[in-house]
Amino acid sequence: MNKNFYITTPIYYPSAKPHMGHAYSSIIADFFARAKKIQGFNVFFLTGTDEHGLKIQRAAEKKGMEPKKFCDEISVTFKDLSKTLNLTNNDFIRTTEKRHFKSVQNLWNILEKKNEIYLSKYSGWYSVSDEAFYSDDEIETIDSLKKSKSSGSLVEWVEEESYFFKLSKWQKPLLKFYKDNPKFILPESRKNEVISFVSSGLKDLSVSRKSFSWGINVPSNNEHVIYVWLDALTNYLSALNYPDTNNDLYKNFWPASLHLIGKDILRFHAIYWPAFLLAADIPLPERIYGHGWILSGEEKMSKSKGNILDPIEIIKKYGLDPLRYYLIKEVSFGNDGNISQKKLENCINSDLANNYGNLCQRVIAFNEKNLNLQIPDKINFKDIDIKILNDFNLNYQNLLKYLDNQDINSYINYIVERLFASNKYFNDEEPWKKKDDIIRLNTIMYVSLELIRKITILLYPIIPETSLKVLKIFKISEKKINLESIKNNNFLELGQKINKLNILFEKIVSND
Ligand code: ME8
Ligand code: MG
Repeated sequence: MNKNFYITTPIYYPSAKPHMGHAYSSIIADFFARAKKIQGFNVFFLTGTDEHGLKIQRAAEKKGMEPKKFCDEISVTFKDLSKTLNLTNNDFIRTTEKRHFKSVQNLWNILEKKNEIYLSKYSGWYSVSDEAFYSDDEIETIDSLKKSKSSGSLVEWVEEESYFFKLSKWQKPLLKFYKDNPKFILPESRKNEVISFVSSGLKDLSVSRKSFSWGINVPSNNEHVIYVWLDALTNYLSALNYPDTNNDLYKNFWPASLHLIGKDILRFHAIYWPAFLLAADIPLPERIYGHGWILSGEEKMSKSKGNILDPIEIIKKYGLDPLRYYLIKEVSFGNDGNISQKKLENCINSDLANNYGNLCQRVIAFNEKNLNLQIPDKINFKDIDIKILNDFNLNYQNLLKYLDNQDINSYINYIVERLFASNKYFNDEEPWKKKDDIIRLNTIMYVSLELIRKITILLYPIIPETSLKVLKIFKISEKKINLESIKNNNFLELGQKINKLNILFEKIVSND
């Protein structure tokens, strides 16, 4: 069994500071990276910034800055955000790095040598904001402005000499690939969207620009820079030291297991990227997952719309784990989701403070009072105890399936359901009334601690910092977290000391 897992986020444009949409993709990717780690996988997790192209060049010009200098400044804010979000990324790639130039030019040379690229002339629409070419039927006129129907961004007319990639010839092979690999594109609705687009025919793709210079030169013709998407997508290979295909990173981690992206960039990842790879005879990634959008009101949150929520501000006010939990739980994964501070506060109060926090606090407090911070030494399970403990065992394969299918909603629903069940167990068993049946009191306590341990391990990919605090009371360190151990009902050592636990989540008192 292949125990390596390579996961990527999109590399973000450093045209402005990061916003909640970027934080969202990165947090979700970190969730999967951590979930795989606790299943014993070697994980390589990549994120970074996409720094070439007209969009960046114009953003820099607006500030009166050299593009590289401009990127240096903003890229740092993305790198800092990855630390603020507590991401476990192994690398942070910038497309202005040497290693990336080498990799892109190598891929270009292969495509050229294989006769997949030819010189011609492009005339058509281009959106600088999307860095995308659009055909006539993909644009509309609103208030006498030409805009992309799908993204709403402005398009401009471009006419210039350009290299083309023979995308059209890959239509059939792509359709066959989608058919043979039914989970290559998820969720299902996005797959259907892609298949219908490809089925309607593919035109050759312009893959170079001549009218500006901020990019990687076409190796054989330095009047052209390589199209920013061919440049950007190749980052996934550059980080593994491509074109050196004999090094351990490449050998262990290519093809990528999961490119996690937003649905806005599905076409680039699910059509162009596999076509480039097919043409270059490089193995294709295993999966592209296109998640939905974080909305602000009815609209997509985006830099160009100026309706952004600043993740740094939110984290300062509420803490990181509450934000991670909220985004992972409340935005139905795969769909668009409207977020607000009010909903975040409700989520912190109901799920984190009242449900999880309360379970941990009351069980440990009861232990401290009656058992002096010790795991009981004599216990005797009844059916009801075994039943609630075994639920994790019975659902273990389901949980793995949820993780493998990026079904985050089912994964977290299971946790929430177990939290309710565990609180109910503690209520119903009433250990405070069992002071003259010490074995029963001990057993209820042991079961409750095991439930906390199991649930906390499941929560680790979502709220790592809090989980580690809780696991620490059982002396379980990060390296020792093992998902499979939730199947064990007797993991905790009888008679061992446990540590005290401080309040995990303060309830938020609303001022309205
Ligand atoms: O497209 N909701 O960069 P980008 C959810 N450089 N996710 C969002 C979002 C929102 N409102 N806004 C952004 C690019 N994202 C290219 C990618 S990859 C080889 C090159 C997230 O800065 C989401 O993952 O516009 C989306 O796909 C990505 O940021 C786009 O970031
Ligand atoms: Mg964008």
